[in-house]
Amino acid sequence: MPGVSGHVALITGGSRGIGRGISLRLARGGVKIVVNYYQNENAAQETLDQIRSLGVEGISIRADVSKKDEVKMMFENIQEKIGHVDILVNNAGEGQLKNQSTTIIDEEMWDRLYQVNMKGIFLCCAHALPMMVKKQWGRIINISSTAAITGGSSGSHYAATKGAIIPFSKSLAREYAPRGITVNVVAPGKIETDLFHATITPEDIPQLVTRIPVGRLGRPEDVAESVFFFASEEAGFVTGQVMVVAGGYA
Ligand SMILES: NC(=O)c1ccc[n+]([C@@H]2O[C@H](COP(=O)([O-])OP(=O)(O)OC[C@H]3O[C@@H](n4cnc5c(N)ncnc54)[C@H](OP(=O)(O)O)[C@@H]3O)[C@@H](O)[C@H]2O)c1
Repeated sequence: MPGVSGHVALITGGSRGIGRGISLRLARGGVKIVVNYYQNENAAQETLDQIRSLGVEGISIRADVSKKDEVKMMFENIQEKIGHVDILVNNAGEGQLKNQSTTIIDEEMWDRLYQVNMKGIFLCCAHALPMMVKKQWGRIINISSTAAITGGSSGSHYAATKGAIIPFSKSLAREYAPRGITVNVVAPGKIETDLFHATITPEDIPQLVTRIPVGRLGRPEDVAESVFFFASEEAGFVTGQVMVVAGGYA
């Protein structure tokens, strides 16, 4: 089994959905987990309880990843409580895509989405990289979306933020490869989470599933498995890559 044991991972948006799946998968591999969340303290506590029930150490920290000062405080908190970050999973994301035609996306919506989905990744990387450089080892996994590849029939702002993640990650991969740090992207398709349900009406789901060759919606665990691979010791020669986890949808 690929090795991740003994490391410390920060999963942004680790309280629910895909982030919770990633947190639990890494915890099962023996990784200490920092669960970041934004508003939902109860969900973060639930994830933490599940991590601890595996016999693994974990802490949770509230921070809006789009806010420079909050990200700074989160990393200071991590340094104080757990020491450092070896594995950074930039998973936190927002997106209310139902009926979001480009003509109704206003400047505030555009800015907010970009700040959370893209600037948040930059801010977290900027704090985690010096810790990784110090150890000459690190893994960064950024969560994009198939919307980055296919676009979306609604929510062009969301697709644009998810697209920006790819060249950002490829650049970081080139820059930091000589220092033992890999940077990769996982692009999920339709994964059943709160965010997914905010994008679609229940009656439209069966029709959507007919367009997924594997014949079902994805689960957080499907995405978590790819993140686990990129986080492993054995994936050290893999960097700047995008893994699509979409059941053949894209
Ligand atoms: N589900 C899909 O079909 C799908 C497909 C492609 C890509 N993705 C991407 O996968 C990632 C996870 O999505 P999901 O479906 O698991 O969403 P979700 O169920 O809505 O969970 C979102 C997570 O992000 C956190 N979050 C939101 N805004 C934040 C902020 N400003 N700062 C810190 N944390 C924040 C939430 O924290 P709280 O619990 O505190 O609110 C929560 O933990 C996102 O980047 C999303 O774009 C999802």
